[in-house]
Amino acid sequence: MYRTHTNGELRLANIGEQVTLSGWVQKVRDKGFMIWIDLRDRYGITQLILDEERTDKSLIEQAKVLGREFVIKVAGEVIERSSKNPNIPTGEVEVLVTQLQVLNESITPPFTIEDETDGGEELRMQYRYLDIRRNPVKESLIFRHKVTQEVRKYLSDEGFIEVETPYLIKSTPEGARDFVVPSRMNEGQFYALPQSPQTFKQLLMVGGLDKYFQIVKCFRDEDLRADRQPEFTQIDCEMAFVEQEDILNAFEGLTRHLLKEINGVAVGEFPRMTYDEAMKTYGNDKPDIRFGMEFGELNEVAQHKHFNVFNTAELVVGIAVPGGNMFTRKEIDKLIDWVKRPQIGALGMVYCRCNEDGSYKSSVDKFYDQDDFAKWAEKTGAKPGDLICILSGDTDKVRVQLSALRMELAERLGLRKADEFAPLWVLDFPLLEWDEETERYHAMHHPFTSPKLEDIGLLATDPGKVRANAYDLVLNGNEIGGGSIRIHDKATQALLFDHLGFTPEEARAQFGFLLNAFEYGAPPHGGIAFGLDRLVAILGGQETIRDFIAFPKNNSGRDVMIDAPAPIDAEQLRELNLKLNLDT
Ligand code: AMO
Repeated sequence: MYRTHTNGELRLANIGEQVTLSGWVQKVRDKGFMIWIDLRDRYGITQLILDEERTDKSLIEQAKVLGREFVIKVAGEVIERSSKNPNIPTGEVEVLVTQLQVLNESITPPFTIEDETDGGEELRMQYRYLDIRRNPVKESLIFRHKVTQEVRKYLSDEGFIEVETPYLIKSTPEGARDFVVPSRMNEGQFYALPQSPQTFKQLLMVGGLDKYFQIVKCFRDEDLRADRQPEFTQIDCEMAFVEQEDILNAFEGLTRHLLKEINGVAVGEFPRMTYDEAMKTYGNDKPDIRFGMEFGELNEVAQHKHFNVFNTAELVVGIAVPGGNMFTRKEIDKLIDWVKRPQIGALGMVYCRCNEDGSYKSSVDKFYDQDDFAKWAEKTGAKPGDLICILSGDTDKVRVQLSALRMELAERLGLRKADEFAPLWVLDFPLLEWDEETERYHAMHHPFTSPKLEDIGLLATDPGKVRANAYDLVLNGNEIGGGSIRIHDKATQALLFDHLGFTPEEARAQFGFLLNAFEYGAPPHGGIAFGLDRLVAILGGQETIRDFIAFPKNNSGRDVMIDAPAPIDAEQLRELNLKLNLDT
């Protein structure tokens, strides 16, 4: 038997018991006449003790050569510690060792297996199995497990059926590039790994399953960021005979359940905002509403004087930074440099200090007077002690720039509190978005999303204005889920494909299976998919999803532990009928 107890288990009540423990050597403290060993496993740390008076000499010799991360098994008696450690649950006891067996040796690990380690991220990813021995990583994985179990339990109790859909499929265009897999048996042909099970879940609705979910891997060959991985997990859901309201209620229920069970936080009804409002008020379709700093549009009150920068701008818009009047001139200059960096791209920033005495001092004092500034303050909601930051230019660009500034300032001012949760539904997304590169419209969500009935007429005249029955669930400024009510009739789906630039032949070649299914009584349906990695990270108070993935990829999409992707040998290439073009 390897163990009678785990290393997190023994307490004063166990004193006098003979126990067997197994685990990894965290630390050996050798005082010559006395040796302490910290023995670690998933459950905690238990202190072992060997001393000259009570322990066999040969055992002491054996203990002296133990190294960090050796795997050992010990037997002994639980005794009370003379100096107790209140910081760990087993800190009142130790085990006086009477038997010791080395189960496996370890070479010295490349970084310390401690909560605060000396290993850099790349090194820890290369030895992820060692990183997982550290508490923060282990706890993140256990946290993910808890969230996943709650999701399964909740959805299953609500009558959703978990169904697995295939990974080797045909590409479904969803904005990102596909990862493709060559088929050995079908020369020159490729599968694609699913960017999401979108079409399959719709087919399950045609199949009558009614309420489906799946915790499923999705694959997207896109540029990586802190909140994106090339393979990630969705909680993918679909329901039949539902309207948008039914979906919002069902998944607000799931999210509320998770916040309560996992975080102990009770949240009321989720606020809702249209996409247009979100863009106008926050310059962002996933606004963080934990703090204010809402946009105040200033065209009316800033374009009546001789300041040409504002007069020629499509949009003049500002935010009030709470307490921002404290910033020194130098700090404000740094902020101006920050918005002018190429990543943000603003041409400059106008500011206006709101003094405690009710007066104003701005960088454009020579163009405007105190009455003008009072109006700016009113529009941005600025109070004495605040700083108004103003950007101007093309509407779409300026909104994005000011949104970036708003988020940056909120971060610096500590307004993005990890233990505060502010969910938000963003509704009525545009159906289509113009793509400059290909000079045509793309589906903003995906081509199966239904247009709002009242907007269908606009498809012919002003396609960019058509709103979709599409929604996102935003949590603390992160898009944690998105979905839509689908098109369920052939005619509308054909119309949409037409607007997306598919000829009827192309549409049939790519989506014939779906159009065919729509001929056999497809029910009205809709759904949503949550990004599980993101959801877990945010519930866990963080935004980097890598920390919640057991074996993540690095920023270049590489698994540095197994060293993938990697070349394959000539024989494998030949078998797959692939030729590498080595000239280019
Ligand atoms: P969408 O593309 O919005 O919708 O994806 C749903 C959610 O998945 C998460 N997500 C990601 N997480 C980590 N890394 C990525 N690369 C990544 N890409 C997306 C986000 C996002 O909100 N089939 C539709 C859903 C539907 O219509 O029902 C879909 O996939 O949190």
